[in-house]
Amino acid sequence: MTQFGHFDDASREYVITRPDTPWPWINYLGTRDFFSLISNTAGGYCFCRDAKFRRILRYRYNGVPMDAGGRYFYIKDGDTVWNPGWKPCKTPLDAYECRHGMGYTRIIGEKGGLRAEVLFFVPPDARCEIHRVKLTNTGKNRKSFQLYSFVEWCLWNASTDMENFQRNLSTGEVEIEPDALYHKTEYRERRDHYAFYGVNRPYDGFDTDRETFMGMYNGFEAPQQVLAGTSGNTVAHGWSPIASHRFDLELEPGASEELIFVLGYVKNPQEAKFTAPGVINKAQARKLLQVYGSPAGADMAFATLKSYWDDILSRFTVASVVPELDRTVNIWNQYQCMITFFFSRSASYFESGIGRGMGFRDSNQDLAGIVHLIPERARQRILDIAATQFPDGGCYHQYQPLTKRGNNDIGGGFNDDPLWLIFGTVAYIKETGDFGILHEPVPFDNKPGTEESLLEHLKISFAHVTDNLGPHGLPLIGRADWNDCLNLNCFSDNPDESFQTTENKTEGSKAESLMIAGLFVAEGKDFAELLSHPAVAADPKYVAKVRSAVSAMEAAVKAHGWDGEWFLRAYGYYGDKIGSNENEEGKIFIESQGWCTMARIGAEEGLCDKALDAAVKHLECEHGLVLNAPAYTRYIKDYGEISSYPQGYKENAGIFCHNNPWVIIGEAMAGRADDVWRHYCKITPAFTKDQALRKVEPYVFCQMVAGRDAARPGEGKNSWLTGTAAWTWKCVSEFILGIKPQYDGLLIEPCIPVAYGTYKVRRRFREAEYELNIHCTGRGGKQFIPYKPGRQTIEIEL
Ligand code: GLC
Ligand code: GLC
Repeated sequence: MTQFGHFDDASREYVITRPDTPWPWINYLGTRDFFSLISNTAGGYCFCRDAKFRRILRYRYNGVPMDAGGRYFYIKDGDTVWNPGWKPCKTPLDAYECRHGMGYTRIIGEKGGLRAEVLFFVPPDARCEIHRVKLTNTGKNRKSFQLYSFVEWCLWNASTDMENFQRNLSTGEVEIEPDALYHKTEYRERRDHYAFYGVNRPYDGFDTDRETFMGMYNGFEAPQQVLAGTSGNTVAHGWSPIASHRFDLELEPGASEELIFVLGYVKNPQEAKFTAPGVINKAQARKLLQVYGSPAGADMAFATLKSYWDDILSRFTVASVVPELDRTVNIWNQYQCMITFFFSRSASYFESGIGRGMGFRDSNQDLAGIVHLIPERARQRILDIAATQFPDGGCYHQYQPLTKRGNNDIGGGFNDDPLWLIFGTVAYIKETGDFGILHEPVPFDNKPGTEESLLEHLKISFAHVTDNLGPHGLPLIGRADWNDCLNLNCFSDNPDESFQTTENKTEGSKAESLMIAGLFVAEGKDFAELLSHPAVAADPKYVAKVRSAVSAMEAAVKAHGWDGEWFLRAYGYYGDKIGSNENEEGKIFIESQGWCTMARIGAEEGLCDKALDAAVKHLECEHGLVLNAPAYTRYIKDYGEISSYPQGYKENAGIFCHNNPWVIIGEAMAGRADDVWRHYCKITPAFTKDQALRKVEPYVFCQMVAGRDAARPGEGKNSWLTGTAAWTWKCVSEFILGIKPQYDGLLIEPCIPVAYGTYKVRRRFREAEYELNIHCTGRGGKQFIPYKPGRQTIEIEL
């Protein structure tokens, strides 16, 4: 089997050993405002804060060839032109390696006795990318060659950049300085920000006009200036501004030369935009160039980045007998949780950064993956999300990170949304003990003057479900629940409308969701526990009301949500069953099995065990649990988008990895360790054997892997930005390794086969640092460790 790379756990890197991976294998740079996507061939782009409105580099999604645009270095050595990352010239290299690490990527290429090593990273808290290029003559003769840098600017709004050419082709403006090439399109008018590409060494030529650099009819692989060894020294006026420096270099055998490039973003105060009419104020750019544009400065920044991730990844570590488990837990799963938290579902190689901002439900779930890592940022995120809620508990489905305002284009009405706020807040308080957040004033729909406490927001979130019950006392589904594609009130027969935003016929609808019912019971129990905690001491009458609503829901599920062998999925608009043995297709769904078993509905009567057995029997395949079975083989107007997907993909019987952990957690709660482990291994990328089949990165979870009904079962898609990251983290940390944060301590309750059941966990928890030596004998059980600050080593046998 072809291997494209391997893990290097000691350096926390994934090492890609050939550039022609089956799909670009990417990494993310940045930790706060300035973010970058970078592939193993240096493709990708960056933006500041908002992938739609502050796009810095242009990128061609859907381009041919794939992954076109990035930060390219061209080396012209005699008649040979090559790139350290292989693309875009694709000149065969003598050696190639790409190391994706924590917040950095190192690409090394070697050709004809010249070695180029490029380190890409974004210093923590700085608004720039550093490209540190080291060139070494590994041959026996002196070498004269040329190095070209190249980036192409996006005209800021990534959406109009791809559409509004009648304007765009006339607006581009640049300034040329000895230290940097400046991109200032639209700065003359309302923008107060610009970008620049600088370098710490005088350049011998430059270009800022793409056409001159490339040649009108050439692609990235054949820039005419590079082929000729020249530069046009152009000043772009409109058309497509770029930045390219040229250096004429010479190296003795064994000698090296280093260049440090800084690709940055600057925002100026309105009153200090210019230093002379039309001349941009470059003070901040120069500062960045000065701080980072020296070996010492770049070293320091890289060391800071390293220690940022060392600290993050020291908060929860495991040492077990399974290397795949350790590398997933200690490195890649937590790293992916951070990235997913930063980006929500906005910018990946499957998300254009244009359509989707921060999701209400998505971002709340993402919190579960990072509350133990960056609690302060989790706190802010909760408050930002809550502020997009409406007074009736409903909410915008998404908001733009730049404005923090709800996105009207996507609207609302997804009836699971409000409950996730309880989910996220509970996860945060259990981790931090910060009950104070409940008293923070938070507005509705971001309107000043409407503030109520976060606790009030949680109450109305809860009430949004009880205020919207259907004929069976189950939650009305609204536009959709967690499954965006189960559109029971949509009835769309117009291919030109989106299932998510088209008019929804909720009036008179009987469509109810068992997924929301399970979520409501699980979160309702959590909510009642929170309210009863002495630190909250909510009105007992209200708590009793919450509990009785939860009991009523449990009763409704048992009476109307049980199909005989598993939990129903939903009732449709007309009150028809969905996810029932009575249906021809879509007889059983994963979401309600997951949520109702996590909520332990009917556990005493054996319903949970039966539902889990049914999931194994009907949903399990070689690569994980599929979403529904049998897959829908035709479009069903009453169900909407789910049936629009061909069988085996996405929500139509794909392995939607996000919801596999729901069943796995349900299994853990039922004490079914072998099922837990088998299902966990199937979706966890570190266990991937066939990299070519998986296609996407073997170091991160995918949203979806093609299911058994697809043409290529096991083929992954939509890697990186997915709720799978947080959910598998919750699953492995709390339910497999069994370290469960509670309001007043840690509850240790593992569910893992005995063969792997002896391990050590180091867990920072508030002001405590626990070293837990866990030994599972197969007996089961749990142990509570009351919270106490300081270092503690605890032996646990269960
Ligand atoms: C995508 C969405 C998420 C949704 C899921 C299922 O992952 O980001 O919000 O719940 O699909 O449709
Ligand atoms: C599509 C996707 C789904 C996603 C939704 C978001 O329907 O299949 O996963 O949640 O778009 O808009």
